[in-house]
Amino acid sequence: MKLKETGLTKEELKGLVNKYMIETYERFDMVAEKAKDMYIYDENGTPYLDFYAGIAVNNAGNCNEKVVSAVIDQVQDIIHTFNYPYTIPQALLAKKVCETIGMDKIFYQNSGTEANEAMIKMARKYGVEKYGPDKYNIVTAKMSFHGRTFGAMSATGQPDNACQVGFGDMTPGFSYAKYNDLDDFKAAVNDNTIAVMIEPVQGEGGVNPATKEFMLGLRKLCDEKGLLLLIDEVQTGWCRTGAIMSYMNYGIKPDIVSMAKGLGGGMPIGAICATEEVSKAFTMGSHGTTFGGHPVSCAAALAEVTELIDRDLAGNAKKVGDYFASKLEALPHVKEVRHQGLLVGVEFDDSISGIDVKHGCFDRKLLITAIGDHIIRMIPPLIVSKEECDKAFEIIKETVEVLE
Ligand SMILES: Cc1ncc(COP(=O)(O)O)c(C=O)c1O
Repeated sequence: MKLKETGLTKEELKGLVNKYMIETYERFDMVAEKAKDMYIYDENGTPYLDFYAGIAVNNAGNCNEKVVSAVIDQVQDIIHTFNYPYTIPQALLAKKVCETIGMDKIFYQNSGTEANEAMIKMARKYGVEKYGPDKYNIVTAKMSFHGRTFGAMSATGQPDNACQVGFGDMTPGFSYAKYNDLDDFKAAVNDNTIAVMIEPVQGEGGVNPATKEFMLGLRKLCDEKGLLLLIDEVQTGWCRTGAIMSYMNYGIKPDIVSMAKGLGGGMPIGAICATEEVSKAFTMGSHGTTFGGHPVSCAAALAEVTELIDRDLAGNAKKVGDYFASKLEALPHVKEVRHQGLLVGVEFDDSISGIDVKHGCFDRKLLITAIGDHIIRMIPPLIVSKEECDKAFEIIKETVEVLE
């Protein structure tokens, strides 16, 4: 839909949003009318270079043509059925995902937070049924982010964050340990612990990659203590970090993995994959969702995953991500550049505000995100080229120089 077709001005459209919508987002001052590959176009047709990809979603490019045609084909056949009949996209995607990432079984959800709810529920049910009624505690990391529904919020180790403050008590059954600190995780495990839940890179927590020693240590700890390793790949999954799933960068396998964002090529979908044994915790009626496994989202995801693999976009994420990250080191006021593939964060010293850099880049037609007080995050579509990274670098550099 185009603004012109509505007869509204941009200000009138913003007026509708302010009057009728519950706003919890800080918006870019643009109407996103169209998107293709690396660019989003506003109401005047002005292109913006996309280094946020709808928050790590449009991995094979905005409106990837294979995804678009899969969606069009599927909406013409059947849009929604619930999970009573078998549907073709669900089955084909299940095989593709499980075989590609080396897991046994998939359960479809609609978003990242829902995928994490499913992962938490499956681990708890597995623990309670296998070991007894108290065996359902999960150790997660401080500064983690797992989503905004109650289980996922409670798993999130950020008690002072706006996503937790003011909502009353969190769900019991979680304890928190320091990220990248194996000893702290070991100390947090007790007789009631059934699982450890971890992001391989803390995205919302400020782009903090896990060390190899830490991830291998967690896998070993879980094996020794009979715990499940739950890996949240909602932000890191589907080629963003230079491997198909970030856990492959470490040479380990989870017992359950959650995914969403990059899976659906822009369509809403989430999922967990589990080992055969752990997956048996979900029995008839014990878990379900009206929209999970939606035929259109599954058809889009099948096209997206096929594109990601066939075009080796994990390889591009690794190559271009390393190039971009090393280039960003040359920015003024940089404290640290952290990255895994094309999940890239720059932390500035206290004199530079991440939000100001984000706004300055927007004014110069580059879209990035800011985290906390001094961090910017770049998570472009994985089709991005070195030349586009050069362009983004120049814009960020100019922005920081003006802010100095
Ligand atoms: C690691 C991680 N888990 C879960 C979520 C929640 O996903 P969603 O916003 O799709 O519910 C996010 C979102 O940023 C995330 O980064």
